[in-house]
Amino acid sequence: MDYTTFVKEIRNLPTPSPVLMRIENVLKNPESTASQVADVIRLDPAITSKVLRLANSAYVGVVRTVTSLQNAVVLLGSKRVHSIVLASELLNAVTIRQSGGFRLDLYWLHSVTTALIAEGIAGYVQKGELLDTSEVFVAALLHDIGKMVLAKLMPDAISAAALRAQESKTPYWKNEEPEVHHTVTGKYLSEHWSFPSLLTDCICKHHQPETSAESALVVSIIHISDVTAHMIGRSVTEHEVAPEISPFALSKVALSPEQFKVIATKAIEDRKRVDSLLEMFNVSPAV
Ligand SMILES: [Fe+2]
Ligand SMILES: [Fe+2]
Repeated sequence: MDYTTFVKEIRNLPTPSPVLMRIENVLKNPESTASQVADVIRLDPAITSKVLRLANSAYVGVVRTVTSLQNAVVLLGSKRVHSIVLASELLNAVTIRQSGGFRLDLYWLHSVTTALIAEGIAGYVQKGELLDTSEVFVAALLHDIGKMVLAKLMPDAISAAALRAQESKTPYWKNEEPEVHHTVTGKYLSEHWSFPSLLTDCICKHHQPETSAESALVVSIIHISDVTAHMIGRSVTEHEVAPEISPFALSKVALSPEQFKVIATKAIEDRKRVDSLLEMFNVSPAV
């Protein structure tokens, strides 16, 4: 497939469903109540079941069973509901089964781990900054979405870059062709879905956080979380060398080594939360 066709193919991918647009409108309105949010979500059985599953999962860690959609929305908070709905809708749109050497299970494990680490870091950073933890979570969950686009439309580009990375023992992202780099394909998708600029920046700049002007703090959090996920062995391709950590991102986030250790250890040990998120996206937590 040539490059022009490839870009056209991305534009042919589905866009958000009408239900998602309605959910977004209700969630955007600060006056909306949990019952109004629940009423819109109810229109889509797949989203309804995801929200209920998440409210009852180890991710939230509640002991009692949540059966009402309205209670689930109250428990999760409307922003977290929004994040999950957006992520699952988008991933449904580009989802693939298994494609060439691309391991969907590794992709998911990497994305979910990055999201949980990012949420942990945002929790520490939030004290002094106006940070939306749910926004950070969804940005981290989707940061490598460009790889899904490639796996769907141009799987050979992934296998070739993975091979070069393995042979040169250098990070995968440094071995991709610039034109079809996963940060570039992710950016196309992001524009196709009219994502907010913060999300686009995280998708496009997470390997070079120093290039991200006004989104620098969140992009830096995603960058550090991504590198950490690699360092604890949760990479997207097998035998992948972890990317180097950016000193710029470290100075932006300014975590103490102790805080960093707590977050990374939690991500390794808290497998139940990882698995409950994987399950929500219908991925078998077999890795
Ligand atoms: Fe990446
Ligand atoms: Fe990544």
